[in-house]
Amino acid sequence: MAFPQTRLRRLRSTPVLRDLVRETKLTRDDLVMPLFVRPGKKVRNEIVSMPGNFQFSVDTLTQRCQELYDSGVKSVLLFGIPEEKDATGEVACQHNGIVQQAIRSLKKAVPDLYLIADVCNCEYTTHGHCGTLLDGDVDNDATLVTLSNQAVSLAEAGVDMVAPSDMMDGRVGAMREALDERGFKNLPIMAYSVKYASAFYGPFRDAAESAPQFGDRRTYQMDPANRIEAMREAELDVLEGADIIMVKPALSYLDVIREVKNNFDVPVAAYNVSGEFSMVKAAAEKGWINEQQLTKEILTSIKRAGSDIILSYHTQDIIKEL
Ligand code: PBG
Repeated sequence: MAFPQTRLRRLRSTPVLRDLVRETKLTRDDLVMPLFVRPGKKVRNEIVSMPGNFQFSVDTLTQRCQELYDSGVKSVLLFGIPEEKDATGEVACQHNGIVQQAIRSLKKAVPDLYLIADVCNCEYTTHGHCGTLLDGDVDNDATLVTLSNQAVSLAEAGVDMVAPSDMMDGRVGAMREALDERGFKNLPIMAYSVKYASAFYGPFRDAAESAPQFGDRRTYQMDPANRIEAMREAELDVLEGADIIMVKPALSYLDVIREVKNNFDVPVAAYNVSGEFSMVKAAAEKGWINEQQLTKEILTSIKRAGSDIILSYHTQDIIKEL
């Protein structure tokens, strides 16, 4: 049946009816808040390019996490900025590493907050690349060792999930094996499986002090033009034992999220990255858009595209609305 018998506007006529027929509902369960931790005490450095986000020390991070938990945030993703960096990122594998300290403090103070730790070397290397350098490029297989050590160390500190973001080949398998050997058989891995070499990460690199000191990440992160290759990345990670696969960034890659969702039977995550967040904040500051409505629309569209989990800096602002 077509018009005039069929009128799609009938189901849009009142708010209650629109609520009844809404296909995608954003909830508190969907969201993860990324946070940055650095050494020191009482540190609360606002990240200029990411308004409302801070580099915290362990004490202020713990306070902030209590507030977030009380406001309805159930899960956070932790990034560390270490006191000192080295050539290979070994500093990230120490018992007293900055993220390890944060995990121990948070597990004591806010035991029900679910803790995910990003696993990567770029915040920990002097050159800012995601692994160990050999002849001016990141050596894949040498990097698997530091990544696996980092994952085990975070597990020992008590993290609930690890999320490798480095894009080395074989890192999910290597990490799974290392974790299993050390008795962490039940620790899930959320792999940044489809991670593009994106200009949307700009503000994050200020936040995490992790910009590459030379060149770029195009020999390990994906070419934004590639969709078929994304399926190969996802497939390999699933075969290696990834429990959750992630697409990153989110907004310019909604087509990829949908395709990953349709092709794989594991939960899918999407990272609404720093540049996506900062564009909204900048436009809101100028009064050009309605921030709250735009944020809801963006997060809902990421969920509609097929994402079960959304990592977003908007989480802290939007959680009370949900
Ligand atoms: C580390 C990492 C990055 C992001 C998450 N993990 C930066 C990068 O790959 O350069 C980006 C997150 C964001 O932009 O919000 N490799």
